[in-house]
Amino acid sequence: MIGRRVVGAGIGLRLPHLLEVAATRPPVAWFEIHPENFLANPHGREVLEDIARDYPVSVHTVGVSVGSAHGVDRAHLARVAEMVAALDPDLVSGHLAWSTHEGDYLNDLLPLPYTEETLNVVARHLDEVQSALGRTFVLENPSSYVGFAGSTMREPEFLNRLAASSGCRLLLDVSNVVISAHNLGYDPVAYVREIDPGAVAELHLGGFAEEEDPATAEQTILVDTHGAVVDAKSWALYETVLEHLGPRPTLIEWDNDIPALHTLMAEAETARGHLERCHATR
Ligand SMILES: [Fe+2]
Repeated sequence: MIGRRVVGAGIGLRLPHLLEVAATRPPVAWFEIHPENFLANPHGREVLEDIARDYPVSVHTVGVSVGSAHGVDRAHLARVAEMVAALDPDLVSGHLAWSTHEGDYLNDLLPLPYTEETLNVVARHLDEVQSALGRTFVLENPSSYVGFAGSTMREPEFLNRLAASSGCRLLLDVSNVVISAHNLGYDPVAYVREIDPGAVAELHLGGFAEEEDPATAEQTILVDTHGAVVDAKSWALYETVLEHLGPRPTLIEWDNDIPALHTLMAEAETARGHLERCHATR
């Protein structure tokens, strides 16, 4: 339903489920879509616009590279802006990462050092993105496998300062905090408690895989696969997040080995239970 607010627990609408959702109109609170799935897919876009008449929608871009030192991809940003204008979603989000460099496109979301210089670059790019979209952008914390020795601030501090200086809001991916905290060796609860509650517009929960760390025999790394049910560690941290922030629209993200729609809906139902308990205690 074009222009309506996302509330409660939604799911990522991926192409394998598009026609099923269009035909059956399942009881899902809201859907998040990747515009990149529809930019060269006119039939898919037509079906999506039909679905968006009945459901609140958020748009999550994986191609606007706000962390690229040489600037955002303006042609891609213009395509996303056109789609945002047509769908009028409640939220438009993307990652704190970079994936382009001087015209080269890297199919990955790469990390940034957290310094004053990076803060200024990303804030400038966020201004450009927000003026092209004509709305507030919602920025997501990355899943990390390496940190930078040159970083001068912690990630939550960096995100809070970006939100304050650019007016962007934050998308806290709870599973990304679990993954990064495990891989980089910090306390996920301390991370969450440092995030400014007033800045957070949305939450993500997604599955990950635990693998042997090739660098050390004793440790494992968590890999952000978006290809499994939400892990118990993410559900536990989600409780802490809701205690700290209060209820926020929450998305179940699943992008690989995509299961039947009812599996995603069951995960969203679990998130809804957490959100209702959070509402009841406030
Ligand atoms: Fe996410």
